[in-house]
Amino acid sequence: MAITYQEKERIFTLQTLHTTYQMKADEHGALLHLYYGQKTAGNLDYLLTFYDRGFSGNPADVGRDRTYSMDTLPLEYPTLGVGDYRSPALVLENGDGTVCADLRYCSHEIRNGKYALQGLPAAFANEEEAQTLSVLLQDSVSGVSVELLYGVIEGEDVITRAAVITNAGKDVVTIQKAASACLDFLYGEYDLISFYGRHAMERSVQRNPVGHGSFSIGSRRGTSSHQYNPGVILAGKHTTEEQGGCYGLLFAYSGNFSCEAEKDQFDQTRVLMGLGTDFLRYPLQPGESFTVPETIMCYSDQGLGELSRHYHDCIRNHICRGKYAKEARPLLLNSWEGAYFHFTGETIVNLAREAKALDIDMVVMDDGWFGKREDDNSGLGDWRANEEKLQMSLGELVKRVNNEGVRFGIWMEPEMVSEDSDLYRAHPDWALCFPGRAPVRGRNQLVLDFSREDVREAVFAQVCQVLDSGNIEYLKWDFNRSLADIASAQRVPGKVTYDYVLGLYDFLEKLSARYPDLLIEGCSGGGGRFDAGMLYYTPQIWCSDNTDAADRVFIQYGTSFFYPACTMGAHVSAVPNHQTGREVSLFTRGVAAMAGTYGFELNPAKLTDAEKEEVKEQVQTFKRVEVLVRNGDYYRLSDPYEEAFAAWAFVSKEKDRALLSVVMLKKHGNMPVSYVRLKGLFPEEMYENTADGKVYAGSALMEAGIALPLQMGEYQSFMMEFRRK
Ligand code: GLA
Repeated sequence: MAITYQEKERIFTLQTLHTTYQMKADEHGALLHLYYGQKTAGNLDYLLTFYDRGFSGNPADVGRDRTYSMDTLPLEYPTLGVGDYRSPALVLENGDGTVCADLRYCSHEIRNGKYALQGLPAAFANEEEAQTLSVLLQDSVSGVSVELLYGVIEGEDVITRAAVITNAGKDVVTIQKAASACLDFLYGEYDLISFYGRHAMERSVQRNPVGHGSFSIGSRRGTSSHQYNPGVILAGKHTTEEQGGCYGLLFAYSGNFSCEAEKDQFDQTRVLMGLGTDFLRYPLQPGESFTVPETIMCYSDQGLGELSRHYHDCIRNHICRGKYAKEARPLLLNSWEGAYFHFTGETIVNLAREAKALDIDMVVMDDGWFGKREDDNSGLGDWRANEEKLQMSLGELVKRVNNEGVRFGIWMEPEMVSEDSDLYRAHPDWALCFPGRAPVRGRNQLVLDFSREDVREAVFAQVCQVLDSGNIEYLKWDFNRSLADIASAQRVPGKVTYDYVLGLYDFLEKLSARYPDLLIEGCSGGGGRFDAGMLYYTPQIWCSDNTDAADRVFIQYGTSFFYPACTMGAHVSAVPNHQTGREVSLFTRGVAAMAGTYGFELNPAKLTDAEKEEVKEQVQTFKRVEVLVRNGDYYRLSDPYEEAFAAWAFVSKEKDRALLSVVMLKKHGNMPVSYVRLKGLFPEEMYENTADGKVYAGSALMEAGIALPLQMGEYQSFMMEFRRK
């Protein structure tokens, strides 16, 4: 039993393979957090202390007891307005304008299986894998209730949290802030690791001490954003890749979010993960409910590497769905960097011919095939093939590509509209726009109001017409600007950002139901919407518009803390690189792309014969290691920010195969020799380097390591495959 309840003490204990989470509904009905961390036994309510803390408020029902205060106790779901002055998980405005919610324990339920969320992504698991705890809290004056949901996926060491807020009162209440996870720690010094960035340089790693005051990251862009990823790690001061305790909080949501970490007056730490607040003023009519998206939590006492591997397994087994969740993805050649907007149907057929010769499975026709679209200033919203430009119909093009023995994929950006488009001319009110104001443009385009069902239905019909025009097996779903002008003709502004994201999910759910075999790759100017919410619908996401292998090593390093390699769209592109101008060898470009989905983003006709031979070899290598990359355990073997090289390894679950990849990042005269040490092998077993037949003990590879050849120049790289003897 993963979840137990002790009636007398009203203590809830959630156990995973290696972790314990405990809370208690106390005699006043407050739901107090007791513990989260390495597996423990027994009741931990002895940890609570009660002292008269000057000026910390005391709830009326404790009488004259000054030692009981919401301001000092560890709380499971703190609210604003009832005496806790730290940052709250929930801010509710009541019908009379007062801002408070006094939530007390009402009832609970434990059931087998994992809860699902209405209209929102959530980790899924069957009755053998998971249990759910639902705890109902209620404010007796307003009638508002909050159902706190806990999903325990025991084998993955994962505990998820979500909340459903219901207005069972008579007046409208307005949600101003709602988090799904709050973690209160009674003591301890922590660092918060977060992932910041920008377009073409996503998920850089930063590690900040949690100090007094609040440190927050988030997004108010309507998407999870390039700038901050909705995943953070709270780590002990001395926690490293291999050692020490760390907690992950990953928000499974693709819109505005907010994450805060704060040390309070008594050196207690609170971490919150939830919806972004700036555009949120969500009115709940009597009888209505609102779901706060899921936070996926995990604790590891064996450092960041182990934490990442838990997340990778959780995402692969409990988030990614559909045919491709567990299957090899087609190895694809995307037309973007090879042709940009300048192609005809014949160009795409030629790409297919070249692709076939290189043993590439699929050609993807990127932006520029529809409406009036010679550049990025027009055409979005008109999802009809431009037959004049292609010089053939879409159906004919797909057939021609298939006839070359190559599969066909296509690019679309369904949430967008160009002002210069038939769709916008017919329905200018379908774009997000403040009444009476000219909208903010981004990449010269506007955002369609996906909170509206009628808008979604019209776009859905267009998308289906495209997908029905031939054997289209892949869709790149792009999103190339942030939301602004948060206003909709059909709803109050405070509902728009949340309802937009639910509208997007609804669209993707219907699309996947209608085309179960279609592989959808998410994209948002590269990795601007790379989150667990999107991965529920799109099992891979274009990791970044930056295809420079030297930069990609960093981007993919940051991405790897939460997301497995099989979710990271990664391609070999031409040099000099189009984003950075850097020249990196074809081999290294391959090494970097093979730490993701692997594919190409260039015009093969421009490769020399020698390069083509090399590509063919690379493709064969990838096909050999693909299953290892997709299903294996991932080990970060260096910190590229600190060390002269980036190194990582994939090790099969059976520990019988390993793939080691190294990219040199720095080069100086007469360099010291660098050594890299593998991880995750059986120490007592022998492993053979498949290239030269040399045999090493697993313990030697892991403890002593191997030397990196000195002649390796800057951005040179190597890969080594090991097999257990
Ligand atoms: C975005 C994507 C690119 C490409 C272009 C097309 O930037 O990230 O890969 O599809 O749009 O306009």
